[in-house]
Amino acid sequence: MDINTLKTQIESEILQVNSTEELEAFRAKYLGRKGALAELTGMIPQLPVEQRSGLGQQVNALKNNLQALITERQNKLSGVSAQQNVLVNCDIGMPGIAQDLGRLHPITQIIEEINAVFVNMGFVVADGPEVETEFNNFTGLNIPLDHPSRDAFDTFYIKPLVRNSEIQATGDRRPATGGLLLRSHTSPVQVRAMKSRKPPLAVIVPGRVYRPDAVDASHLFMFHQIEGFMVDTNVTFSGLKGILETFAKEVFGEEIKMRFRPHFFPFTEPSAEVDISCIICKGKGCSVCGRKGWLEILGAGMIHPNVFKQVGYDPKKYSGFAFGMGIERIAMLKYGINDIRLFFENDLRFLKQF
Ligand code: PHE
Repeated sequence: MDINTLKTQIESEILQVNSTEELEAFRAKYLGRKGALAELTGMIPQLPVEQRSGLGQQVNALKNNLQALITERQNKLSGVSAQQNVLVNCDIGMPGIAQDLGRLHPITQIIEEINAVFVNMGFVVADGPEVETEFNNFTGLNIPLDHPSRDAFDTFYIKPLVRNSEIQATGDRRPATGGLLLRSHTSPVQVRAMKSRKPPLAVIVPGRVYRPDAVDASHLFMFHQIEGFMVDTNVTFSGLKGILETFAKEVFGEEIKMRFRPHFFPFTEPSAEVDISCIICKGKGCSVCGRKGWLEILGAGMIHPNVFKQVGYDPKKYSGFAFGMGIERIAMLKYGINDIRLFFENDLRFLKQF
């Protein structure tokens, strides 16, 4: 048979092959010891010498081609049967394998919730570094050199720099200016934002803060705060009350009452500590609120003129309020969590509840 006719025959015949048994028969027919190709190869020695290598090459090419066709068919056939296998062995009524989805940490969730409340009132979200200058954390906020919060027992210093002139002036070897520390509150971002932007300003700043406190059910060396502040030409204390009351009602519920108690912060004047009516006993007095009926949730006040001066704002032209709250405390009150350490022990039994 002519080799080209044989090639055409092979190519059309393989398309008829529909099972592994048929494929085996096909292979034997063409590639077997008595197959068509063997037959052709056997004819070579009988040819005149000059034609032998030509036919030899053609037979080899056909053989390679044929092998490729067989492999291809085989893949196709086993593909079909694998698919059939899946269908036969598949119980479509069986429950699927549930993907274990991750979730946001409860602190991240509450930050996002509080952010949303303030963003709806026109605030923008900003952040600042956790390694802060001593100036922004203290001096720029009108916190004097001898304030107890600047003591090394109350702040993690990274690079305390002491200037000779300051040692002479104060007789005090405690860290003064030029130093670096882990910020002990989010208030330094007030200084940063006021320096880099112009009023009107309405900013909130969620973030981590650090204090060298002994760890117990209500203290950690690291926790989260949200700072908020507003600066414009006519910002009032009643505006502060309105904003904070809206916040408390959104987060804790409409029935919440709020009260301001006079307090002192160096960077606000007047200053207040802000309480909400106890969410457990609704103000009657219980163990959570220490029988007082009130829960302290944040510190606040009108931004001190000295802070405005430090950032180059005219305190006669501008007024502003600021507030700061501990996020873990808000989350603990909202969800009735009695130990702050639970947030950071990475126990999935706890975390999965949120
Ligand atoms: N920075 C204060 C603190 O950490 C909270 C605060 C912020 C108070 C802004 C008043 C105004 O305790």
